Amino acid sequence: SPLTSHINKLTDFEGVSLVHFITDNWENIKNFKARPDDILIATHPKAGTTWVSYILDLLYFGNTSPERQTSLPIYLRVPFLEANFPETPSARNAKDSAVSYYHFDRMNMISAEPGDWNTYLQRFMDGKTMFGPWYNHVCGYWEKKQTYPNLHYMFFEDMVEVGNTLRKRITKGVHFDAMKQNKMTNYSAVPVMDFKISPFMRKGKVGDWKNHFTVAQNEQFDKHYKEKMKSTTLQFRTQI
Ligand code: A3P
Repeated sequence: SPLTSHINKLTDFEGVSLVHFITDNWENIKNFKARPDDILIATHPKAGTTWVSYILDLLYFGNTSPERQTSLPIYLRVPFLEANFPETPSARNAKDSAVSYYHFDRMNMISAEPGDWNTYLQRFMDGKTMFGPWYNHVCGYWEKKQTYPNLHYMFFEDMVEVGNTLRKRITKGVHFDAMKQNKMTNYSAVPVMDFKISPFMRKGKVGDWKNHFTVAQNEQFDKHYKEKMKSTTLQFRTQI
């Protein structure tokens, strides 16, 4: 039966905030061996994982397996390496990621209880939301990109902006409204998520953080951000 309240707590696992679904499976994750032609989508939560997964799935299987499109939810086609549960959660700017993650943790009953927005934002800034610091994720892959030619770094903001061209080239199916309606991509079949609290396909916008951050939160966040990001050349757009 559907879960109606948050059942998990975040625990500190080697310095990263996680829930037991991830840590229980840690040996398998650590021992995973990729094949040379595997594609790994490395995202901080809420950066557009589902979107990129669907685009890649359509590029690879869109023409050859029509039944795949109607019968298999996207999180089963492109599984989460770190999770041994069938359902879960590109780089996206910190403020929109924090807002999206907050709404996701409110509606996802296997997330830890998010608390109020102000507490949550502070936890995000402290790197204590699930999967650890956004800052380390985006900067870490940005550094790796300088040495690994196979690493393709994508920005959510660019995808929203160039969406029209990209959508036309692949299919109109990856448009936000289409993915929101599509039962195979909108997570509506997942029992631990309460869409009455917040739908998974929530807004899909750049800049929704402006509807959540107070002026004081924004000033505090920017000051902290500048400090956390002072030694990287990586730049995000928080509006387009
Ligand atoms: P919002 O909560 O801001 O709406 P993830 O898949 O990594 O969990 O990320 C989810 C976020 O990506 C949600 O953001 C969701 O609405 C957005 N998203 C998913 N598909 C999208 C699309 N086709 N276009 C724009 N945003 C999309």
